[in-house]
Amino acid sequence: MNTAPRGLAVVTGGSTGIGLATADALGQAGYAVIAASRRLATTPSTPTGVTTHELDVTVADSVAALERTVAAHPAPLTLLVNNAGIPTHAASIADSDIDDWRRTYETNVVGAVQTTQALLPHLVRNRGHAVFIGSTVGRVPYERGAAYAASKYGLTALVQTLRLELNGQPVRVTEIAPGMMRGDEAGGEFMRERFHHDKDAIAAVYQGVEHPLTPEDIAECVVWCATRPAHVDIDLIEVRPLAQAAQHKVHRTN
Ligand SMILES: NC(=O)c1ccc[n+]([C@@H]2O[C@H](COP(=O)([O-])OP(=O)(O)OC[C@H]3O[C@@H](n4cnc5c(N)ncnc54)[C@H](OP(=O)(O)O)[C@@H]3O)[C@@H](O)[C@H]2O)c1
Repeated sequence: MNTAPRGLAVVTGGSTGIGLATADALGQAGYAVIAASRRLATTPSTPTGVTTHELDVTVADSVAALERTVAAHPAPLTLLVNNAGIPTHAASIADSDIDDWRRTYETNVVGAVQTTQALLPHLVRNRGHAVFIGSTVGRVPYERGAAYAASKYGLTALVQTLRLELNGQPVRVTEIAPGMMRGDEAGGEFMRERFHHDKDAIAAVYQGVEHPLTPEDIAECVVWCATRPAHVDIDLIEVRPLAQAAQHKVHRTN
């Protein structure tokens, strides 16, 4: 019996947040899933068909090991979700740490390039799909977030260039750019890292905002894009909560 009618999906950064929710959703949608990240996490809700794999997207040997696992997998790779990403600690350009800039670019841009390079031959062979999780910050930056914004602008350039270079080949390329999201009650790992675990700073971001996006909202976007007919390439989804009309226009109830 074919237990993965849609083939194999690799989700980078699959241990928490959007990646974890996406791995779950893709498993439920009929993919065999490899959720790959530095930590190996499963939840009680992880459906059958989702396996974990240790991956650091910034380390070439680690990415090569992922490729070998994919090559040996019984299901053909049809979907790569480049989701692994880190925030930069909130800081002005004047005060920011140069190593933070390097770390952010290395993970959010070079890591996605490295993973895509390694798995692209599989996607070409299997008429596959590369999805990238960008951010609305990759279109409009905010203060004290330049290093992260620059990395997401960089990711957008990568996505758009890849689509041009693959024109004529059977690989779809999609960017999903989420706006204000709350990973969990405490903001999610991403926000805790961005604000050095400063609960008050995190609470201020969400103050009075009804229903920020959740990781599950983004996972649904990924599944929808991936399950369109093979000739339909969703270039970009920009998705915000209803309360966020634009990057700096957020309705707050108090
Ligand atoms: N949270 C937001 O408000 C928001 C908004 C828009 C876009 N995004 C984007 O959405 C994506 C996921 O964010 P999230 O909110 O779900 O954050 P998260 O909960 O912090 O998850 C980030 C994931 O990336 C993994 N990761 C980090 N560095 C890695 C590396 N070198 N190699 C492999 N995996 C790595 C982490 O796992 P390990 O630590 O185990 O490796 C984790 O699974 C990111 O690209 C982020 O930029 C987030």
